[in-house]
Amino acid sequence: MDGNVLTPFTIHHLLFTHMSYQVIARKWRPQTFEEVTGQEPITRTLKNAIEHERLHHAYLFSGARGVGKTTTARLLAKALNCHKSEKPTATPCSMNDPTACASCSEIAEGRSIDVMEIDAASNTGVDNVRDAIIGNVAIAPARDRYKVFIIDEVHMLSGAAFNALLKTLEEPPPRVVFIMATTEIHKVPDTILSRCQQFEFRTIATAKIAEALRRIAREEKIDVDEDALREIARAGEGSMRDAQSAFDQVISFSGKKIKAEDVETALGLAGTEVLARVVLAIAEQRAAEALAVVDDLVMRGQDLRNFCRDLLAHLRDLLVAKVAGDATGLLDSSATEESEDCCASSLPTGNWSGEIDGDAQSRAAQSDSRTARCAGRIYAYGQSACGGRRQSSACCGCWRRFAT
Ligand SMILES: Nc1ncnc2c1ncn2[C@@H]1O[C@H](COP(=O)(O)OP(=O)(O)OP(=O)(O)O)[C@@H](O)[C@H]1O
Ligand SMILES: [Mg+2]
Ligand SMILES: [Zn+2]
Repeated sequence: MDGNVLTPFTIHHLLFTHMSYQVIARKWRPQTFEEVTGQEPITRTLKNAIEHERLHHAYLFSGARGVGKTTTARLLAKALNCHKSEKPTATPCSMNDPTACASCSEIAEGRSIDVMEIDAASNTGVDNVRDAIIGNVAIAPARDRYKVFIIDEVHMLSGAAFNALLKTLEEPPPRVVFIMATTEIHKVPDTILSRCQQFEFRTIATAKIAEALRRIAREEKIDVDEDALREIARAGEGSMRDAQSAFDQVISFSGKKIKAEDVETALGLAGTEVLARVVLAIAEQRAAEALAVVDDLVMRGQDLRNFCRDLLAHLRDLLVAKVAGDATGLLDSSATEESEDCCASSLPTGNWSGEIDGDAQSRAAQSDSRTARCAGRIYAYGQSACGGRRQSSACCGCWRRFAT
């Protein structure tokens, strides 16, 4: 037979020997509580609970996509079961440690017999809950100290499935811990919420994402300009996973040397100077210039939704720069740069006329500041600009960050 025929063996060989590349988000999943960026109040509380053995039997982690919920759930499971310690430990084995215990290695790879990861999105029904959870809780852990159920996207469970879970969740057998994760906490019934200890994961500040990316770039020996790094971090919109995926994409595009222009081309972003040009044109009432920029973006095949999102984030930063000055930490991008001060000062801080939607208006009324009214206006604009499609887009995020 011809030697080039693809047998199942050769396909397996080709796939698994030549696809050793692992995406950044997976390769760099935090291995210790300290490495979880931007969620310090949560990791600190969990570490204390572990050290003082004051563990709850049910946790609920909520927050936007890619901010560390599954990562922290696995870390907690490892902490409960690590074999290197007699009791739960806040410093379980890291995957980089060649002597990592069997429990920690298997949990990190999602294949431990005592730590079950259940995807509620594909197991929504009451029968799934009975089979996968209720039927299993009474069986003692096979090897580890605790039996841990990690239920991802828990809001997807049906009403009957939630009801079936209530009793078990209230009084599970000893040595059973539930960790539930959701991006849509408002869809989780109150009866479930009140039986859990809740942790709200925050979206991660751009500066912190940039810092994490800088560390990865150093380790991976990638030469990336500071401006480029900030653009990639910004593209994550508060999600570490999204930023890391964007980083992967840019590396594929331009290799190990990355400049800001590469990021803009690879991700289809409008650069900061384009945003500054538009804002200046609006401030100086030169509509033709603003339209010329948009036309240029269209000609270059850029996604105008990205542009609207970036423009909103930019306006938000300019307003913050104007109101709060150099309030480090409040700004997301480069609006403090001298070149843009002129734009900031030409923005009005009050009397933004036009329609403000009810939600933004009531928030603005609650807070009597002129800033809030402006934010409300931008929020309203953002809602109409993106048609309210993006659940956690810059416009809603911008309002939230602005108001706090
Ligand atoms: N807070 C963080 N610190 C460091 N890295 C993080 C953080 N959050 C997410 N990541 C990175 O993103 C990847 C995905 O994170 P994780 O699976 O914990 O997200 P998630 O909150 O569960 O998101 P989803 O709701 O989409 O499931 C991780 O492998 C890690 O590389
Ligand atoms: Mg997850
Ligand atoms: Zn271990």
